[in-house]
Amino acid sequence: MGKGFFISKAVGIAAIIVGAGALATIIALSVVYSQEKAKNNDNVLPTDGGTTSKPPVTTTAPSNEPWDKYRLPKSLVPDHYNVTLWPRLKQNLTTGLFIFTGQSTVEFVCAEETDLILIHSNKLNYTKRENNHLASLTSLGGVKAPSIKSSWLQQVTQYLVLQLDGKLMKDHRYHLHTDFTGELADDLGGFYRSEYMEDGVKKVVATTQMQPTDARKAFPCFDEPAMKAIFHITLIHDLGTVALSNGHDVQKTVFQPTEKMSTYLLAFIVSDFSFINNTIDGVLIRIFARTPAIAAGQGDYALNKTGPILKFFEKYYNSSYPLPKSDQIALPDFNAGAMENWGLITYRETALLYDETFSSNSNKQRIATIIAHELAHMWFGNLVTLRWWNDLWLNEGFASYVEYLGAHEAEPEWNVKDLIVLSDVHRVFAVDALASSHPLSSKEEDIQKPAQISELFDAISYSKGASVLRMLSDFLTEKVFTMGLRTYLAEFAFGNAGYTDLWSHLQMAVDATGTDIPETVSNIMNTWVLQMGFPVVTVNTSTGIISQKHFLLDPDSEVTTPSIYKCVDGLSYFPPLRTINLYVFIISGSDWVLANINVVGYYRVNYDQGNWERLLGVLSTNHVAIPVINRAQLVDDAFNLARAKIISTVLALRTTKYLNKEREYMPWESAVGNLDFFYLMFDRSEVYGPMQDYLRNQVTPLFTHYKSLTDNWKNVPVGHMDQYNQVNAISLACRTGLRECQNLTNQWFNQWMETKLNPIHPNLRSTVYCNAIAAGGAKEWEFAWSQFKNASIAIEADKLRYALACTKQPWLLNRYLEYTLDPNMIRKQDATSTIVYIANNVIGQSLAWDFVRARWSYIFTQYGGGSFSFSNLVNGVTERFSTEYELQQLKQFKEDNAEVGFGSGTLAVDQSIERTIANIKWIAENKQNVLDWFKAEEKP
Ligand SMILES: *[C@@H]1O[C@H](CO)[C@@H](O)[C@H](O)[C@H]1NC(C)=O
Ligand SMILES: *[C@@H]1O[C@H](CO)[C@@H](O)[C@H](O)[C@H]1NC(C)=O
Ligand SMILES: *[C@@H]1O[C@H](CO)[C@@H](O)[C@H](O)[C@H]1NC(C)=O
Ligand SMILES: *[C@@H]1O[C@H](CO)[C@@H](O)[C@H](O)[C@H]1NC(C)=O
Ligand SMILES: *[C@@H]1O[C@H](CO)[C@@H](O)[C@H](O)[C@H]1NC(C)=O
Ligand SMILES: [Zn+2]
Repeated sequence: MGKGFFISKAVGIAAIIVGAGALATIIALSVVYSQEKAKNNDNVLPTDGGTTSKPPVTTTAPSNEPWDKYRLPKSLVPDHYNVTLWPRLKQNLTTGLFIFTGQSTVEFVCAEETDLILIHSNKLNYTKRENNHLASLTSLGGVKAPSIKSSWLQQVTQYLVLQLDGKLMKDHRYHLHTDFTGELADDLGGFYRSEYMEDGVKKVVATTQMQPTDARKAFPCFDEPAMKAIFHITLIHDLGTVALSNGHDVQKTVFQPTEKMSTYLLAFIVSDFSFINNTIDGVLIRIFARTPAIAAGQGDYALNKTGPILKFFEKYYNSSYPLPKSDQIALPDFNAGAMENWGLITYRETALLYDETFSSNSNKQRIATIIAHELAHMWFGNLVTLRWWNDLWLNEGFASYVEYLGAHEAEPEWNVKDLIVLSDVHRVFAVDALASSHPLSSKEEDIQKPAQISELFDAISYSKGASVLRMLSDFLTEKVFTMGLRTYLAEFAFGNAGYTDLWSHLQMAVDATGTDIPETVSNIMNTWVLQMGFPVVTVNTSTGIISQKHFLLDPDSEVTTPSIYKCVDGLSYFPPLRTINLYVFIISGSDWVLANINVVGYYRVNYDQGNWERLLGVLSTNHVAIPVINRAQLVDDAFNLARAKIISTVLALRTTKYLNKEREYMPWESAVGNLDFFYLMFDRSEVYGPMQDYLRNQVTPLFTHYKSLTDNWKNVPVGHMDQYNQVNAISLACRTGLRECQNLTNQWFNQWMETKLNPIHPNLRSTVYCNAIAAGGAKEWEFAWSQFKNASIAIEADKLRYALACTKQPWLLNRYLEYTLDPNMIRKQDATSTIVYIANNVIGQSLAWDFVRARWSYIFTQYGGGSFSFSNLVNGVTERFSTEYELQQLKQFKEDNAEVGFGSGTLAVDQSIERTIANIKWIAENKQNVLDWFKAEEKP
């Protein structure tokens, strides 16, 4: 899936309840649970919701039956499926439901004799077949299939279970037939529906999101990535959307059989969307979206870029695109950013549709990189699939690395490859520096339940995966890296592999080319993959000694996660020091030394005080002597080393003094990101005023620079990075209260309200809207809300949705919070991020926290089915926490909701507690110093 949005799934109790009687089930279960606890028994939870037929044998002991295990037995191997699905895009007014019906036949081979068939199935109702069973079985090749003895649905583990009265025979083939009905719900998972308005008419789309474990919600299937098969899909759908008078005029679309593929990559969609198309070297490329969006040319950019990116990856992988067509579709409701279904990639509208009048350069970059990310998966992930979800990091980390290569191909002027440092390396450093982090690789047996799988779609898998693969590609050289990659793809095409298979192929390439590396690929990579965290490398220029240790944001925190990594030579925690030359690329000036050039290595760097002083000297006299990425890195390292108490906070603040001369985006972005932490910690304290004064002085020259560069804000800067930094200039100038900036944004916004013609350039809209709404009252808010509701492109709606959270009026914020749980106001896909926006606002912080606390069990049960990212939510609303009182509230929250659970946010709750403790300590130790420093800087 595309990064940036992580899905979360129904988990724990939420997964047990189905349909009606939900509330009663929750209550019943919690009663059972508390009784169990009271008896101080072993905490056995009922393993079945009890809403459908039960297994024939009832037992109270923890059952160890095959159907209680989350992993399929190895006895049956699917060959192909014939599936017909009929989604009804009209609500049944009697039941109030949208449904789909389906028939499926799967042909499987028996690999080990067995009298049991387990096949995944979730939330499907079956029509009874022969002898009242939920399925029927036939055999091929003349022998008679055993008859079905009993059949039932095992809800917790999501199986259709069939017990047979005789054995299936090894190497024989069988057909399993089913007829079923499912709900076409608006839950963003499995086969679901998306709704939108067009010309005043509500339209319904039936679409899918299978990854990771929701194909079983569309039809019964062996829903594991290694159970590859061929799928013959038939869809039944209405002809056109016009109301017809005499019943349904239906049409049947039969699709060519797929290649051999995993269930999680399937997709089927019924809509009345339009498309534009192209053909490149025989591959048909189509972009689908709502008809008005296509008519307005919003798919053109994606169509223009898809061909070149596809060609780039064919070359990169040395493998032609495996399918005859590549469809990409923008959906009004979609939970992740995008999903790499093989040949039918699904996107949020904001991730695919571009419109020059509405889209910023950042929107455009996102489209180019997400397309590249998803197309990269067509080979890496789809053609060759990881055997099990514990290796997800390799799939997502790889796509998150090469997405920059593909985007660079599409937009060579942008220097987009540099941005991996800000968007992935820095982003994940923040998480991976916590004691509650986790290694990239997990043990297969630790990843079993759907919620455990969902939890893997996190910053570690995406961004750390991308960071260490970039490092690997760099030290092997791209030539050797792609050589290994190509033979890996060739060997495992249409099959499955594990990450060690990639290491073997890279090793073969190393051996074939005689590349000199100090250890095997596998030994080197194990240190990064099998243990969590990353090192801080200290370069002591006075002694010449280079040393390293595990970098922990809170040096007092205790790492309890067991490491899978066994240190080979007992020398050190991270890469053996004798291989350090691989990672510590050093350049130096006359008297200073700088390590980790372009931040290729996945580690932070510290120096002796003397070298730090000399680096600060270079920054203030001739900052361009240091590469721009490293200027960003010096700031980021210094601030984080200070948070970990390795250097003083004052030293970190001093890295920002040269910024009044800096014009480049990356160092500013890095500084703004780190200063955000200061805002979070101090925007409710007396440090705030002096900090604002200092930063206003620092940013004013940048603001003035852009004012003249753009001829008093009339033009757009030429460079991509310059366009980004213009946004920083305005955001920070307005945030720090530069009057000229505030007047500018208010004046633009007022002009818009009065003339109804928007004069604001798309690049600047988010920040201008936000500042104007913050400065204004109900009138500005209501205007923006009406613009939000009427926006014709999601990219514009998203900017407004963000800015609406900037108001300083508590009543408006509270009302906005209420809207987030009303899908008519805020789409479910946007609920989490809207709440987090509100929490980012200093006025909204406590309102959002109270809201989430008060509604937790409601949110969890109502939105548990995929539309809420619980970890983003928990991290987002607790980010500012830095007092004892807030820590107590957080612990209380954890305790109060222990029974409801936190699902995919479980780890985030612990991370938030850890972060709050660290913040409390940090403030106690730093507040006075920081205040004194800002005050001293204010004085001329
Ligand atoms: C609506 O559902 C009811 C109950 O399942 C069913 O009897 C009826 O035929 C359905 N109506 C339509 C129009 O499909
Ligand atoms: C699926 O359909 C194909 C083509 O009609 C047919 O050859 C095959 O036998 C069918 N397989 C099953 C399992 O029904
Ligand atoms: C499936 O069956 C349950 C229990 O009878 C019912 O509540 C639910 O509405 C059914 N779902 C569909 C899609 O028919
Ligand atoms: C685009 O699609 C239309 C209609 O399906 C077709 O006639 C045309 O040849 C296609 N164009 C390209 C360039 O593939
Ligand atoms: C797409 O490419 C065409 C032809 O090169 C060009 O005229 C058009 O401006 C491009 N559209 C976008 C949105 O990039
Ligand atoms: Zn992905």
